[in-house]
Amino acid sequence: MTQHTPAGAPADRPATPALYGGKGSRRVTVRDVAAAKARGEKWPMLTAYDAMTASVFDEAGIPVMLVGDSMGNAHLGYDSTVPVTLEQMTMLSAAVVRGTRRALIVADLPFGSYQESATQALRSATHLVKEAGVGAVKLEGGERSADQIRLLVEAGIPVMAHVGLTPQSVHAFGGHPVQGRGEEAAHQLLRDAKAVQDAGAFAVVLELVTAELAAEVTRSLHIPTVGIGAGPDCDAQVLVWTDMAGMTEWPGGRTPRFVKEYAQLRTALGRAARSFAEDVVGGTYPAEEHSFH
Ligand code: KIV
Repeated sequence: MTQHTPAGAPADRPATPALYGGKGSRRVTVRDVAAAKARGEKWPMLTAYDAMTASVFDEAGIPVMLVGDSMGNAHLGYDSTVPVTLEQMTMLSAAVVRGTRRALIVADLPFGSYQESATQALRSATHLVKEAGVGAVKLEGGERSADQIRLLVEAGIPVMAHVGLTPQSVHAFGGHPVQGRGEEAAHQLLRDAKAVQDAGAFAVVLELVTAELAAEVTRSLHIPTVGIGAGPDCDAQVLVWTDMAGMTEWPGGRTPRFVKEYAQLRTALGRAARSFAEDVVGGTYPAEEHSFH
């Protein structure tokens, strides 16, 4: 299974050494991800939902991008990931694939597109691989999703699993509580992580898990763990790009503890839009240099 890779990708693109390793212009694969764990090298993952933003991250050397169903909140204006459809996921994943040359693109299986049965999961994942050209899919759940993971992997579709806080179950969780606190919860999380590894997942996201438990899971698995709100000891770290870049408007202005904002894009973009509006209203844009004669 291959991703659609545009011809002529430059070989000298800035790279994340762990996964690109100076190997020319081909896309990162799940084998590169496995090799990074074996070498003990950490790697970054960002979400992306459109071609232009994805191309910026690709040029910056982000080796793995997730077309996350966080697009529900971050891109489509919903208040959770639950309403996102397979068609929306397919359209935006195809855009991200078109905008990138190097990164491994992983697409989320949206809520309702895989829970029914392993066969339903295979149908949805096949659609994403064929129509959008992604290199892997992600789905939520540990032991409960093992059958789905096994069938997808048997069919040749790499799967990233997702345990801990699984946002598609927001109604069951009743919010976003930190996971794995207490002995029974910690044991269940370890069982879930082992179950997805045994089913053939190539990596597993640990979301909102105590740092101590995430470290233990990371030590226990031979596949990489990708942390979000799971402390510093995971093999990789993922952030929703709009959170990472300071685009997200948080309720009450309270940025969650696990988010680090590496830019203030919301402020910068608002300032640019206000300046444009002032220039138009004041008649200073377009000026002579922007005009044709
Ligand atoms: O949808 C998403 O962006 C995710 C990440 C938070 C891991 O699942």
